[in-house]
Formats: sequence, structure tokens, C-alpha cells
Amino acid sequence: MAKPMLQVALDTKDLPAAISVARQVNDVVDVIEAGTLLIYEEGLRAVQNLRALCPDNIILADTKTADAGGNVGDECKDAGADWMTCINAATVPTMASAQDKIEVQVELYKNWTEDLAQEWLDAGIDQVVYHQSRDAKLAGQTWGEEDLREVKRLIEMGFKVSVTGGVKPEVLKLFKGVDVYTFIAGRAIHGAADPRKAAQEFKDEIDRIWG
Ligand code: 5RP
Repeated sequence: MAKPMLQVALDTKDLPAAISVARQVNDVVDVIEAGTLLIYEEGLRAVQNLRALCPDNIILADTKTADAGGNVGDECKDAGADWMTCINAATVPTMASAQDKIEVQVELYKNWTEDLAQEWLDAGIDQVVYHQSRDAKLAGQTWGEEDLREVKRLIEMGFKVSVTGGVKPEVLKLFKGVDVYTFIAGRAIHGAADPRKAAQEFKDEIDRIWG
């Protein structure tokens, strides 16, 4: 079983804040995400800047695309991203046209089914992000056995599964023995007083559990 990768989700207010965190953590994390909120603020120049600053990291544009997949895929690729996201509500043709341009992750929120997920695999899309939404977390949702079952089910289907949504180092042990592709942490890293130390705590926990 491969060790899960670590991704920092840069949902910062502006580009200088994102750049500051990326500088501190880029040799600790594997993947740098231009977060949806950052892209709303700054557009894809956020991706361009992160690409230039972090040539050795995988760069994800978290566009949560719902339509015009090929166009958005082109834009993300041109900006220097390696991966982009589509929301699970997008049609399979939208996802497939994005996947023709750049590697796509499907972000799972609500109302997806195994039959639909199989269609994504059949279209050549093998990355999903298992997501607890920020708003659901604010309403009191926590990580537990049901999430574990869903993540395992997706892995058994053949997906590379990333896990995100209010993830903190203490959540990781729930997934011990599970072939998680990437843990994605936003506020727990970019919102920390010392983002590098916070990222290292995730990395140490990954090493402890999967090392
Ligand atoms: C929001 C996202 C976030 O980037 C992701 O959930 C990680 O952020 P946090 O750890 O702060 O919840 O996709 O839609």
C-alpha cells in the first residue's frame, strides 16, 4: 500500500497569503491546491503564481466545474495546473471533455450513486475526492464509520480516493489500513499560527500510520 500524499488547500483571502503559506510548506506537502475561494478572489492567476513558485509540486485547480469542462480544462492546463476538479453533479460529457485536457478529480458532495461513479470510471476518470462540506461540518457533522465505509467502497471500485473537509491530524487514524490517495487539509494548515509545523504534523501522522 502506498503512503497517502498530503495536499494543502489554499482557500486564503488573497494571493499574497496563499503564496506565503505555499513558500512555507511546499517541501512538506505533495500537492498544492489553489482553493475554490482563492480562485473566486484572484482567478487562475493564482494557479499561475503557485505553479511558478512550486515547480516540483502537483498543482490542483479546485474549480468545482459544473459545465464547459473542455474550456475550463484548457484554461487550467494553460495556467499550469496538473489536476482540476469537477463537481459530482456535472454530466459525464462535461467531466470527459475536461479529462481530455487535464486530469480530473470528481468532488463528491451529495446524490451520487455507484452506477454514476462507474460511468466516471468508464470515461477514464479515476480520481474522486470524498468530501465533508464546510457547511455540514459547521452544522456538526464529524468523521466516522460511515465515511470509512464509503471511502473503502470507492477504492474497491478502482478509484484513487482523496479525503477532505475539516481534516485534522487526529482524523487520519480512522483510515488506518486504507489505501487513501491524498489527505487534503485547508484551514488546519493555512489557518495555523505556524503552517509549516502544522503540515509537518500531518506528514508525521501519515508516516506513523502508513510508514
Ligand atoms: C472547500 C474545499 C476545501 O478546500 C477543502 O474542504 C479543505 O478545506 P478545509 O480543510 O479547510 O475544510 O474544497 O470546498
